[in-house]
Amino acid sequence: MKVAIIGTGYVGLPTGVGLAELGHQVICIDNDESKIAKLRHSQLTIYEHGLQELFDKHVSLGHLTFTTNMKEGLSGAQLIIIAVGTPPHPITNEADLSYLYEAAAQIAPCLNSSYTVVATKSTVPVGTGDEVESIINHINPQANCDVISLPEFLREGYAIYDFFHPDRIVVGSDSTQAKKLIASLYEPLLALHPHCQMLYVSRRSSETIKYAANSLLATKIHFINEMADFCEQSGADIYEVASGIGLDQRIGKSFLNPGPGFGGSCFPKDTMALDLMAQKYGVNLSLVHATLEGNKQRITSMAQRIIQVAKQLNDGPAEAGAAGAGAWDGTGAVVGILGLAFKNGTDDCRFSPAMQIVDHILKVAPNITLRVFDPKAMDNAKKILSGYSKQIVYVNSAQEVSHGADILVVLTEWGEFSNLDLNYCALHMRHKVILDYRNKLSMRLAHELGFSYSGVGLGTDDLHH
Ligand code: UDX
Repeated sequence: MKVAIIGTGYVGLPTGVGLAELGHQVICIDNDESKIAKLRHSQLTIYEHGLQELFDKHVSLGHLTFTTNMKEGLSGAQLIIIAVGTPPHPITNEADLSYLYEAAAQIAPCLNSSYTVVATKSTVPVGTGDEVESIINHINPQANCDVISLPEFLREGYAIYDFFHPDRIVVGSDSTQAKKLIASLYEPLLALHPHCQMLYVSRRSSETIKYAANSLLATKIHFINEMADFCEQSGADIYEVASGIGLDQRIGKSFLNPGPGFGGSCFPKDTMALDLMAQKYGVNLSLVHATLEGNKQRITSMAQRIIQVAKQLNDGPAEAGAAGAGAWDGTGAVVGILGLAFKNGTDDCRFSPAMQIVDHILKVAPNITLRVFDPKAMDNAKKILSGYSKQIVYVNSAQEVSHGADILVVLTEWGEFSNLDLNYCALHMRHKVILDYRNKLSMRLAHELGFSYSGVGLGTDDLHH
């Protein structure tokens, strides 16, 4: 099938590569000329595990091509997938649909009497499909097309894995012809994963499912984060509690990892958009609202905790410092930050709790110097933090973060942080304090080496390590 995908971001590009692997002829369209130029030179514009190999394969086979020209890209396409960004509007916080509507307006004149399905993959408020349909019909009443909702459930960092291992494929449409076309699109995938369900629903239900799924997952994370706070005070261990509740199949084990709060380009945006939509409909989604507000407060209080600890070190007597480090000179704390991406496996810093914590410290405590490292997100972080060049030192490895640091803070759940050489850190830090907001380090080893260690929701022993 000839498929055109508009938007080459974290959704469009992995989807295009995945569909090419399923045997389809895919053309990716983007109005950003520099992006398309890079992709044409086999340079990926995002980091996704496993993407490069499949990308190279299908580019060289000619199954995957790129263009900035909408007319050329849409010519002969049986399916047009819209995967442009719908970021929160800077003033209203509602999903900004301007890119999406612009895409619809550009698609319309390219449609003709050959049947085409226009599928919205971007996460959009309920009723957006109606608007896309009316834009197309208004501009080109002759267009023979169906506008459907085809939400994506890919996780960043695992997009390729998720593409080939979906739990379900949701199709929002009343059109039999459109449903048949989407069924044939995914036929090769369903042959490999017969357990995967195709779920055909109305367009509005499909649009709602995406928001409901993301909001429920965000709520689950917020719940476990609050339980982690409870465990810290009550002497329980969050991992034991998570296992105990997760084994109940009605609850499930996933998304019960505590941390500094959820982030990324989906959960914060989608919970906010759903909350706003509900307010418009006069519905009180109190749980979604509480999750959203609670998560914001959590991120701020996690940042405050770092500042508080730094202040205590500053006010208190110098500890027996690490070898080679002099006594505490009180000129301002040095905090080593491990992780800037919103989660592991990605270079994406958008709405990253780590970045929000860094930003808060930089604004509220300008005397603190941050030594920062992330395995993949350094370039993106540098762009966002460019205004703070004096307070930040970008280093080249996780170990280097510890040089002269007073506090080591783990903010992103990168697996490799678990292998951090704490012996090395102990030797190079000025004070030996660890705030492990992702529970990646060994509490036992940290204690043995004389660190003051605080994880999230941990009991007195680190049985999970
Ligand atoms: C999410 C959904 O999982 C995906 O189905 C949807 O298509 C897009 O939104 P993504 O934003 O890529 O995917 O990230 P996800 O892996 O869900 O994590 C989101 C945030 O929650 C991250 O900040 C992560 O660190 C945090 N998280 C996740 C936790 O703190 N604990 C968990 O147990 C899981």
